[in-house]
Amino acid sequence: MKLEAGWVPVALSSSIEPGTSAGAVVEGSEIVVWRDNSGNAHVWEDRCPHRGMRMSFGFVRGDHIACLYHGWQYDTAGQCRYIPAHPTLEVPQTIKVPTYSAEERYGIVWATTAENASLPDIGGVTDVTPVRSLYIESAADDVRAALSVIDPTAFAGNDGIVSLGGDRLLTAVQVISSEKTALHIVILGSPAVNAGAKQKHYAQWAEGLRFKLESMVPAIAEVA
Ligand code: FES
Repeated sequence: MKLEAGWVPVALSSSIEPGTSAGAVVEGSEIVVWRDNSGNAHVWEDRCPHRGMRMSFGFVRGDHIACLYHGWQYDTAGQCRYIPAHPTLEVPQTIKVPTYSAEERYGIVWATTAENASLPDIGGVTDVTPVRSLYIESAADDVRAALSVIDPTAFAGNDGIVSLGGDRLLTAVQVISSEKTALHIVILGSPAVNAGAKQKHYAQWAEGLRFKLESMVPAIAEVA
């Protein structure tokens, strides 16, 4: 799904610590996911308006992010607030990074440019346990097909919920390109129960899924 079509999963919440940033790609659009020191996540276009440096290479300073190249600082609305080479300049309002709506739900950061999109809603889920983000050199449809072999209801109106080994996993699909997909995986359930051995078990399971998809296993049913 594209950012303008609805909420797209772009990172595991646990992978974006306060004061850090990371680059990501959604259907060819480069974005930066960053978290300010108050703990709020932001998703923007990954391009500094000055000379085009990736904002994901920048440094988070409190509730600002500073570009790596010339140090221009942007507030959480994407507005440039400080230019080190001109410290007394009142920065024009036009110098702004395009920003996207960002929300966190089920241990995942979601982003969109759509105005009235609905976030995924999994009834009765209050706690999740992060597993990992998996980057696969396969088309998203092939990834969904592999997961649907494991659980035929996984994408039948269920937003990628896979029942496996007595657990339920949310496998949120991010389309990077026609040949590359990210899968953000969480266990639907409390870390008090699932942290540790189960996280490790499903992280290894995910590695196996990737290996089989990238190895072009003819019988996709073998991933089950
Ligand atoms: S390219 Fe970002 S401050 Fe110059």
